Amino acid sequence: MSKKDTVTLIDNSTGKEIELPILHPTNGISTIDVRQLYRKLGYFTYDPGFLSTASCHSSITYLDGLNGELQYGGYPIEQLADHSNFLEVCYLLLEGELPTKEEFAEFKTIITEHTMLHEALKRFYSGFRRDAHPMAIMVGVVGALSAFYHDEIDIHDPKHRMIAAHQLIAKMPTIAAWSYRYSHGLPFEYPRNHLDYASNFLHMMFSLPTVAYVPDPVFVKALDLIFILHADHEQNASTSTVRLTGSSEANPFAAISAGIASLWGPAHGGANEAVIRMLTDIVESDNDVEYYIERAKNKDDRFRLMGFGHRIYKNYDPRARIIRKTCHELLTGLGSSNEYSDLFKAAMELEQIALEDEYFISRNLYPNVDFYSGIILLAMGVPLNMFTVIFAVARTVGWVSHWDEMIQDPESRIGRPRQLYVGALPRDYPKDSD
Ligand code: SDX
Repeated sequence: MSKKDTVTLIDNSTGKEIELPILHPTNGISTIDVRQLYRKLGYFTYDPGFLSTASCHSSITYLDGLNGELQYGGYPIEQLADHSNFLEVCYLLLEGELPTKEEFAEFKTIITEHTMLHEALKRFYSGFRRDAHPMAIMVGVVGALSAFYHDEIDIHDPKHRMIAAHQLIAKMPTIAAWSYRYSHGLPFEYPRNHLDYASNFLHMMFSLPTVAYVPDPVFVKALDLIFILHADHEQNASTSTVRLTGSSEANPFAAISAGIASLWGPAHGGANEAVIRMLTDIVESDNDVEYYIERAKNKDDRFRLMGFGHRIYKNYDPRARIIRKTCHELLTGLGSSNEYSDLFKAAMELEQIALEDEYFISRNLYPNVDFYSGIILLAMGVPLNMFTVIFAVARTVGWVSHWDEMIQDPESRIGRPRQLYVGALPRDYPKDSD
């Protein structure tokens, strides 16, 4: 190992020094391999929230937070958004290469033929209150899939892993749409094999036995784009949850259920729902946008500008740029009188003021993917509490791709972080209390 590929660490309290290897990526930031640190120097590293920690090596997705770049398998998200479709992106994330025409046709058939659910799964829905949040239903029903497929899976068999991945990608839209139907007292609509992925989801969400339903092609295209943009995002909280859960060799359906639970939080995938609640408050309240900007800057106020800021992007989230354009096009197509234009105008005003404000500039806070996506979903008639569900449907391919990559990684082992213990020192149980 040449000197230039190492760092030297000197423990000033003992004078002891060690060399740690630098691991170089194909793209992006190099890492210091600290695996020998504890054995050689007797220290743990401390990094709450993992701001400076690489948990694994991966070839699936690359983010450049400083330049606002996102690539799936090396392909820029802007090009995939313009030229690809969600199922082709699913193949790319799972296999690492774009499919040939024949490979895509075969993959599409496999996914289409796995969209049905075991009829017994229907009964899981009736156990939920009518007003249960669909994300609670998703966590429960997806976790329950492990009861249906548990015994058949040998997670060390690549074929079994790919079948589980195909089942999850195929069944998530059905499970998601049925969580909507259940909460609205509507009969469950079955998938239709002649429809594409996004059309099928809209069909299962909105078709009624009483009237023929044809998905609006504008909405189908916008939803397919939303699926592409949300498909994967490196080691985010929910993907790291899936990896950590899967590292114990838990059933993949249980691991994905854990990912759904993590995504639900408003700091993560729940932000799209929180953005609309914030924009609606702005539009309906007497307070102007500056009032909300000042609240977001006030340390004593827990209020944050939802849809703003990102752990990685210290520039505009490239997905936000794409989705802002689609949002504008879709609303223009609906005509300026539609009720969502006010939300879009409030979002643009908020963005403009924030991007010129020292507080946001100095902290590199820009709109993220959640800032505009909700307005599109609202315009499609998707209710607020289904926004994160749609994020989960899209992110399932990212979760299963990372799970599959982790299981086949020879370096992979059960994740078990250590801690900086700051609790009580050893003490005896008080004798006099016997
Ligand atoms: C997603 O990780 C991923 O890749 C996630 C995701 C994916 O595709 O998987 O991209 C999807 O989750 C997008 C993020 C959606 N969440 C939100 O929009 C919620 C609002 N955003 C924030 O909660 C926050 O920006 C986070 C959670 C996104 C990032 O938090 P960090 O990296 O821990 O940053 P931080 O909280 O340390 O903030 C740094 C500073 C702080 O101020 P100071 O202490 O330095 O004075 O910026 C401030 C924060 O108070 N800040 C905000 C803010 N976000 C950060 N202040 C006001 N409004 C905000 N939105």
